Amino acid sequence: MVDFNVQGKVAVVTGGTRGLGLYCAEAFVLNGASAVVISSRKQKACDESKKYLEKLAADNGKTCRVIGIAADVSKESDCNLLFEETSKHFKKVDILVANAGATWGAPIGDHPISAMHKVLALNVVGVFNCIQLFTPLLEEAGTPEDPARVVIMSSVASIVSLDAAGVYGYTASKAGVSHMGKSLALQLGPRNITVNSLAPGYFPTKMANGLIEVAGDILVDTNPRRRLGEKEDIQSAILFLCSKQSNYINGVVLPLDGGTHLAPGARL
Ligand SMILES: NC(=O)c1ccc[n+]([C@@H]2O[C@H](COP(=O)([O-])OP(=O)(O)OC[C@H]3O[C@@H](n4cnc5c(N)ncnc54)[C@H](OP(=O)(O)O)[C@@H]3O)[C@@H](O)[C@H]2O)c1
Repeated sequence: MVDFNVQGKVAVVTGGTRGLGLYCAEAFVLNGASAVVISSRKQKACDESKKYLEKLAADNGKTCRVIGIAADVSKESDCNLLFEETSKHFKKVDILVANAGATWGAPIGDHPISAMHKVLALNVVGVFNCIQLFTPLLEEAGTPEDPARVVIMSSVASIVSLDAAGVYGYTASKAGVSHMGKSLALQLGPRNITVNSLAPGYFPTKMANGLIEVAGDILVDTNPRRRLGEKEDIQSAILFLCSKQSNYINGVVLPLDGGTHLAPGARL
């Protein structure tokens, strides 16, 4: 039996209060993490999700400390705050999930330049800022047998073009972070930190629900697996990428989309 787990590990999840980030936090809580730090811009959301995760742990007989820190990771000052608050509690961090992200869709003529800046500030600069700050704590945790993990929540939009919704900044940002992750994997691998990216397709969340509603059945009909992504898909992948068994996997962009990236829009 192969037991994928994150036993005793400390994990930080940006944008961990809902959606895919919360799914990751849940997977860590349920599979042995000793502590999970979740962050988002809103203190109320951090408090509510902390309570939810603590109850989840208690209901499942798990002991996991949950800490919620409000921080807007598109701002350098708040990235510093997230790092400083986390380092008050922990001398090492085993897992960083750089998940917080935003999108903007508009026809080319209407797409505000300010929205391009906003999306890139969070989806690229914020991701880099967090990884840069947390590298010393990750290095402290990593060993040759079980390196520390950085997982970037990229998107299938980093692999194939999703131009229908006019998400120009989003596609650029996700292609950018996936590629940045590969460079970081080369540089941080020798320091016992692996860097991988997840590239999800469509998962119903606050961010994606609007588009899923507008697109209707086509997203399911054209998916080779004939469904949207589900919580368990994210949880299985994040657990695998953060468990000891995947210690030799470094620099991958893992599509998590039922195979849509092979032929987007195709009805087979
Ligand atoms: N859902 C999908 O289909 C899909 C597909 C591919 C990739 N992704 C990626 O997955 C990640 C999570 O998306 P999601 O679908 O789970 O979206 P979501 O439900 O909207 O959740 C986004 C999370 O990020 C937080 N957040 C937003 N802006 C932030 C900021 N400036 N600083 C800190 N936290 C911030 C939000 O909390 P607050 O609002 O309280 O800040 C929330 O916790 C994103 O990077 C997204 O691009 C999603």
